[in-house]
Order: sequence, then C-alpha cells, then structure tokens
Amino acid sequence: MEKFVDLFTVHAHLTDKEKCHHYGYLYDGWTAGMQIKSVLELGCTGFGGGGLISFSKAYPDACVVGVDDRDNNSHNILSSCPNVHLLIGDVYAEGTALKAMADFGSFDLIVDDCVHKKQYQFDAFELWSPLLSREGLYIIEDVFEHEVLDLLSRLSKYGREWQVFFGDTRHLQRNYGMIPDIMLGLKRYKL
Ligand SMILES: C[S@@+](CC[C@H](N)C(=O)[O-])C[C@H]1O[C@@H](n2cnc3c(N)ncnc32)[C@H](O)[C@@H]1O
Repeated sequence: MEKFVDLFTVHAHLTDKEKCHHYGYLYDGWTAGMQIKSVLELGCTGFGGGGLISFSKAYPDACVVGVDDRDNNSHNILSSCPNVHLLIGDVYAEGTALKAMADFGSFDLIVDDCVHKKQYQFDAFELWSPLLSREGLYIIEDVFEHEVLDLLSRLSKYGREWQVFFGDTRHLQRNYGMIPDIMLGLKRYKL
C-alpha cells in the first residue's frame, strides 16, 4: 500500500493534508493494519479533490465517496479515479447522510475535513458516525487548539465506546498557530 505521507505530497497541488498540516504520518500510523474497503470524506473538493484521489490510490479496491456542496471544478480530475463517487449535498443535512447510507451503506474510514469549528465537527460526528462500520475509524481534521478540549468533552457523551487518538502537528507547521493542526481519531472498541 502506498503511504499517505507520499500520496498527500504528490497531490499537494490538490490537497493541503501534507503541505500545510503534515497529517500523512498520522494517517499511516492510525490506519495501519486496518482492512479498509470503504472511505467517506466530508468536505472534499475545495482544493480539487486531492484527498479523495489519495484515498483512491491508497485503497484501489475500496469504494471512496466524497460529500461536498459544490463541485469546485474537481469533476474532471475525479473522473479519472473509477472508484471515487462524488455526492453533492450539505454535509450537515440529515437527508445527505440518509442518501449516502442508502447508496453506499457503511464506511470503514470516515474523514471530516468540512467546516473546522467545534459545533460543526460535533454535529457531523452525530450525523455521520452511525455510518461507521463496527471497527471503523472516524477522523476529525483541523481542530483548533482552543476548541479541542471542549470538543472532546462533548464527544465524551459517547462514553467508553470509543478509543480516542490525538494527533498534534503544530510543531511541524511553519506558520505555527496560524491554522488548526490537531487531528482527532475515534475508533470503536472491538466488542
Ligand atoms: C478544507 S476544504 C476540503 C479539502 C479536501 N478535503 C482536501 O483534502 O483537499 C472544505 C470543503 O468543505 C466544503 N463545505 C463547506 N461547508 C459545507 C457544507 N455545509 N456541506 C458540504 N460541503 C461543505 C467546501 O466546499 C470545501 O470543499
């Protein structure tokens, strides 16, 4: 399997996941050993779809689905990845999640790269985490340092069901403190 740190670097013109945030090594570590057959990215086309293309190359046999409320001219690029599907809709609307569930079922990896504010990140988790497969991983990118504790405290209402991974790449960020560089991972414990 190709490493995310390399995929995000190769597609740095289409995604900021490595160029700005250096999340590649966290993805590589957190997904190691997982059998990933389906991926969902919430907020995906903003820079042209480089996240979706990277997931598609990392998991060529997986179904990779992106949700965004605009195409952002990513259609031509994404059409070169046969396992990528783009669902245009509002990430925070229940109807969009229901449509994704009806069309694609559950997902082994869900990535929230949509609106980087704690209320939106919490709302997205409530709406989309039911679509996570039993041993799946739910990633929340770009959590602000001043919001991370409150977000974790809100998520704690889910109790002991989740193992939480904390990734902080601020020390790798040239513009330290200018953009959010904390990534959370939530993985359901094996029952
Ligand atoms: C940071 S960009 C995503 C970058 C992409 N994941 C990547 O790796 O290159 C955030 C995206 O969220 C989308 N977005 C913002 N609000 C949204 C909403 N309510 N519903 C759907 N998409 C939304 C924007 O259109 C934008 O494409």
